[in-house]
Amino acid sequence: MKKRILCVVGTRPEAIKMAPVILALREAHWADVRVLATAQHRQMLDQVLDVFGIVPDVDMDIMRPNQTLPELTSRLLAELDGVLAREAPDVLLVQGDTTTVMTASLAAFYRRIHVGHVEAGLRTGDMQNPFPEEMNRMVAGRLSRWHFAPTTSSRDNLLREGFDQVGVHVTGNTVIDALKTVVARDLPAPEGVQTGERLVLVTAHRRENFGAPFREICRAIREIADRHDDVRVLYPVHPNPNVSEVAHEMLSGHARITLCAPLDYLPFVAAMKRADLILTDSGGVQEEAPALAKPVLVMRRETERPEAVAEGVVKLVGPEYGPIVTEATRLLGDANAYAEMAKGVSPYGDGQASSRIVSILRRDLVG
Ligand code: UD1
Ligand code: UDP
Repeated sequence: MKKRILCVVGTRPEAIKMAPVILALREAHWADVRVLATAQHRQMLDQVLDVFGIVPDVDMDIMRPNQTLPELTSRLLAELDGVLAREAPDVLLVQGDTTTVMTASLAAFYRRIHVGHVEAGLRTGDMQNPFPEEMNRMVAGRLSRWHFAPTTSSRDNLLREGFDQVGVHVTGNTVIDALKTVVARDLPAPEGVQTGERLVLVTAHRRENFGAPFREICRAIREIADRHDDVRVLYPVHPNPNVSEVAHEMLSGHARITLCAPLDYLPFVAAMKRADLILTDSGGVQEEAPALAKPVLVMRRETERPEAVAEGVVKLVGPEYGPIVTEATRLLGDANAYAEMAKGVSPYGDGQASSRIVSILRRDLVG
């Protein structure tokens, strides 16, 4: 009988990074592959699943407006147990560090189902940054049999924590697999960006930046647009009300700042390709932008993705007005500094991560 593998997706980045694994598992034919959408994100999850042509077999439709962590966690955990009982998978695959990942791993543990963790071993060493993701990925790691680490440094984090190396595999990050499948397509030009304008692309959504840090970020973005009259800021605003209300209050009405709804994955990749500079607190964007040779300023205090920082193509500037404005101004004004960061070094994978994951699962499950 075929092994039953249940692939869980909850949010936009999980879907982008799990999609290549789902498609590769389906092509391999040795497993019965099912997709469970918790729909922790509703619209942003559907956007991605549509792009990759994936229709969930089970959809929990869990998202509520402005959901809190305790209510999201408790509803997920309670409802996941029934889903796992009905689906009875041999293996549950989770990706990343969201509440969906943490609760799905725990629900699987309670039902003694083996878990495979895609994008395992990322750590900042600081439980508050990112919050609550550092805790989520540590819990998922503890409960997993397979750890698919994207890089050698994420593998080393796991070995340092005492994980048996038998279950730890360096595969590359599946985000590069996803990026490679779309980047070669005929991508639409980003809307509202004029020829001759330099493009600064912005995304932000981290919980630890809510409140004062996020207001600093917005103030810095406005200043960057004010200082450079050939710069257009394109900012697809995350729908979390803690972000979208402040972003619209502080940034709307500026002639060269375009606020828009979250972009579909293809237009967003097109915007990254067209961008001169990217300001973000996103995990996935820190991995994709170096592969597209785009300099990134990370508006966070810590990053669990130190590889691109070490290569000099990503810089950690924190969520403070001063460093964000100073570094952006330096890159927009100094061609040498810019060229140093636009080297096109891609430390997160070669686009083959999902086929490695599928081979490892096949070896361990069917021999
Ligand atoms: C979540 C993850 C975070 C991940 C991010 C990716 C947790 C705790 N957080 O953060 O790790 O980096 O997703 O984007 O797991 N909303 C919508 N439509 C959507 C999505 C969200 O309206 O399609 C709004 C809703 O009001 C929702 C709120 O955003 O309640 C927050 O969503 P939630 O998944 O709890 O947190 P994110 O900030 O999106
Ligand atoms: N992304 C997208 N549309 C957007 C903004 C981002 O498709 O408007 C993609 C981006 O290419 C990356 C992923 O969403 O692959 C990152 O998601 P997010 O920043 O929400 O979460 P994180 O990676 O920080 O967990």
